[in-house]
Amino acid sequence: MNAAIRAVVRTAINEKREVLGIYRGYQGLTEGAFVPLYSHSVSNIIQRGGTILKSARSQDFRTREGMDRAWQHIQQAGMDALLVIGGDGTFSGAMEFNSIHPFPIIGLPGTIDNDLYGTDFTIGYDTALNTVVEAVDKIRDTAGSHDRLFFVEVMGRDAGFIALRSGIATGAEDILIPETKTHIDELTRTLKEGWNRNKFSSIIIVAEGDDAGGAYAVAEKVKANFPQFKTRVTVLGHIQRGGPPSCMDRVLASTLGFEAVRALIKGKSGVMAGMVNRKVVYTPFAKATKHHQRINRTMLEMARILST
Ligand code: F6P
Repeated sequence: MNAAIRAVVRTAINEKREVLGIYRGYQGLTEGAFVPLYSHSVSNIIQRGGTILKSARSQDFRTREGMDRAWQHIQQAGMDALLVIGGDGTFSGAMEFNSIHPFPIIGLPGTIDNDLYGTDFTIGYDTALNTVVEAVDKIRDTAGSHDRLFFVEVMGRDAGFIALRSGIATGAEDILIPETKTHIDELTRTLKEGWNRNKFSSIIIVAEGDDAGGAYAVAEKVKANFPQFKTRVTVLGHIQRGGPPSCMDRVLASTLGFEAVRALIKGKSGVMAGMVNRKVVYTPFAKATKHHQRINRTMLEMARILST
């Protein structure tokens, strides 16, 4: 997010505009928590995780009173456009706000979950994936040396994009995601077949939103079917949301921030800027939200074939 903030500030200044940073997203908008941002305000942040502007899941902005207060602050501050960075909730908030107070708003896709339509990758996804891959590689050392079966739970809320891609990259023996039904019996059969071929260690990536429950729940069920396999569970948790962004994320955030400011100035609004096939495209908020983004079934099939 910091790389995106930096790009937005510096592009806007280059276009002779002034920029106000809003603390804690929509919550800060309802409170008038603004800070002028200059070129030097965003120095030395491109390599930092998190966001210098902080973030919050605002309950106030969900109410009519909160939105009206936000509108007053927007007017008092003399703002003429808003650039929001986030996922589903951010864009639904923008649409709801716009239905009451029409105002130019452009969005940038900022979520590790990669569950937005209208961009191949969201800002943060690649960094989270690299963290998962590094962690799973380390876990595999114990799995292999001690002949263990590991269930590694990754984030993604109700989507399996982090699980699928990191599972392919780490050669996981199975990948359990919410988009497909998990059959514990099938999983146990695959593990037993592997065991009979002298495969005594395995890694199963479990998306936190998988329908069979998280990694602990799945491990318990498999253990009941296959007690001779020594199982362990690792929940990676919030390490996936932090740390210095990858090169890919920094460039993506910089490009989208840069283009979004220029698009706002040209009059675009109500859309998310995304990158599809290396081109910047704009998708209406209503379409950009997650339920339009589909998991790639061929990648799933590939993961299955390559891990046997
Ligand atoms: O949506 C991003 C995300 O990291 C999800 O993958 C995860 O389920 C959730 O946020 C964690 O949220 P919190 O930090 O509020 O626990």
